[in-house]
Amino acid sequence: MEKVNLQGVKLFAPASIANISCGFDVLGLCLENIGDYMEIRRSEKAGIHIKSIIGQDLPLEAKKNVAGVAGLALLEAHNPQLGFEISIEKNIKPGSGIGSSAASAAGTVAGINYLLGNPFSPTELVPFAMEGERLACGSAHADNVAPALLGGFTLVRNTNPLDVCKLPTPLELAATVIHPKIEVKTSDARAVLKQRVSLEKAISQWANVGALVSSLYEEDYDLLSRSLVDEIVEPARSILIPHFVQLKSACKEAGALGSGISGSGPSVFAFSRGMNTAHKVAQAMHQVYEKTDIPFEIHVSPVKQSGVSFLEDIT
Ligand code: HSE
Repeated sequence: MEKVNLQGVKLFAPASIANISCGFDVLGLCLENIGDYMEIRRSEKAGIHIKSIIGQDLPLEAKKNVAGVAGLALLEAHNPQLGFEISIEKNIKPGSGIGSSAASAAGTVAGINYLLGNPFSPTELVPFAMEGERLACGSAHADNVAPALLGGFTLVRNTNPLDVCKLPTPLELAATVIHPKIEVKTSDARAVLKQRVSLEKAISQWANVGALVSSLYEEDYDLLSRSLVDEIVEPARSILIPHFVQLKSACKEAGALGSGISGSGPSVFAFSRGMNTAHKVAQAMHQVYEKTDIPFEIHVSPVKQSGVSFLEDIT
């Protein structure tokens, strides 16, 4: 039922890691302690109105903003007469590779849906949030917005019509993410990809995706480690990420199960069994990057099991 007595809601819109090495455009996971804070309020004026964005210089015009476009897509499907105001505190930098646009789009549609009394399921919200991705990089991929809305690991079997599966998370799995503070636009990182793949590489890739999914169900950390291989996208994109090879070997030496490019980069993620190892991997990443003149930040996070979190009702 619509929450008519609520003026608005404050929420946390989580960051996410897309691709997860072998699963380009299909695999993703939700991060626990990195994300944006948003406030969604009802407005008497129809449409989406972005009131403020703290932390990043992004357009306030709804049709030019990923949150605006995603919100408008939801209203178009539900009731275009309704209006909402959005304020965003952005902690995820656009072009960082941890789902900045996805967080804004997912937070918007989840917040509006909450105020409307949840007419849409989290999965039904994914196509609206994908419109934000289309605006951000020209491709309506769902591998960041699906985990940001559903939580956990997700696999996007198909985008049109949408077919998303939620996958289990091995209990001790932890992620370490380094964000070198250079911008790699998703559109540029997509432009460097070859449009054709050899059968040999395709076989290796789908074998790894299948094995990775199995490793999540079986909590088989060794199989997960062996499956974190990307024969297709990583070789083309890694040249955009300074010290990528050193980072990968430092992570492995520190005990990581494996590592790869987070989304379209430049962030690099590593998986570990247990938070202690994930923190050691963070130190190893730190040692590689402190020798460079590139500013960076490192996050250690479990996998968040629910997507967008609602923090406070505004009455
Ligand atoms: N799957 C997308 C890509 C994710 O790698 O281009 C972008 O964050």
